[in-house]
Amino acid sequence: MTAPEEVLRARARSFGAVAAGYASLRPSYPADAVGFLLDSERSLDVLDVGAGTGLLTQVALGLGHRVRAVDPSPEMLAELTTRLPAVATAVGTAEALPPADGSVDAVVAGQAAHWFDPGPAARELRRVLRPGGVVGLIWNTRDVRVPWVAALEELVDDGARGHEADEAVVGRLAAELDADVEVLESRIVQRVAPDDVVAGIGTRSYVAILDDAERTAFLARIRELLRDHPDTRGRRELELPYRTHAYRLTPR
Ligand SMILES: C[S@@+](CC[C@H](N)C(=O)[O-])C[C@H]1O[C@@H](n2cnc3c(N)ncnc32)[C@H](O)[C@@H]1O
Repeated sequence: MTAPEEVLRARARSFGAVAAGYASLRPSYPADAVGFLLDSERSLDVLDVGAGTGLLTQVALGLGHRVRAVDPSPEMLAELTTRLPAVATAVGTAEALPPADGSVDAVVAGQAAHWFDPGPAARELRRVLRPGGVVGLIWNTRDVRVPWVAALEELVDDGARGHEADEAVVGRLAAELDADVEVLESRIVQRVAPDDVVAGIGTRSYVAILDDAERTAFLARIRELLRDHPDTRGRRELELPYRTHAYRLTPR
């Protein structure tokens, strides 16, 4: 039997294997939510930690900020560089951040802070932030108020994360940082072919670590649901809705 920590470590390392499809299969982040995290009249020096292929980096750049990207996976960063060649990248983790002390105005993490070890990560966040700096954490979760999405969620439930788990992550990091927390909820809709819904779920870390036979069977059940559900049957494109929660942590 594999220990839960080992499974988690394997999941955290699994992203390299799915880097190629990742950016086109995962949802981006709504600009209002990222604007809330990086609320400023001026252009900020932003560090995107767990930046992956750069979905959050891209939105922050679009809002006029200067963004550097850090991720433990060289494969994910290679995809980021293909998509956003002007962005400086470095291999690193939240627990050992590459930038110098007091060198960034904001650190952001999209769909990533649940991988961080809160104590060491908080020490590093404090170290790299300038006085008055902020930490912005953001997650998309599938909107189960839509019936076919609820049916999908029931199938993927075993390993998937939820909004409550994300709030607990925020609470732990905020306690370690001694930070005030503000929250904004927004939404984003991903327009995708049914096959891409299946492939997108294939990029989730709990699926990436299954063996080939298990993964094939799991993804086949999702394909069947989309083929048979009255709201998705016969559709060539689906609107997959997400609720986005953005948390701005301001260390006191
Ligand atoms: C679900 S992906 C999110 C990528 C990107 N932020 C986005 O929104 O598309 C999670 C990322 O966190 C990275 N990661 C895992 N453990 C980490 C750690 N301890 N510190 C920093 N990043 C980590 C993974 O390599 C992966 O690229």
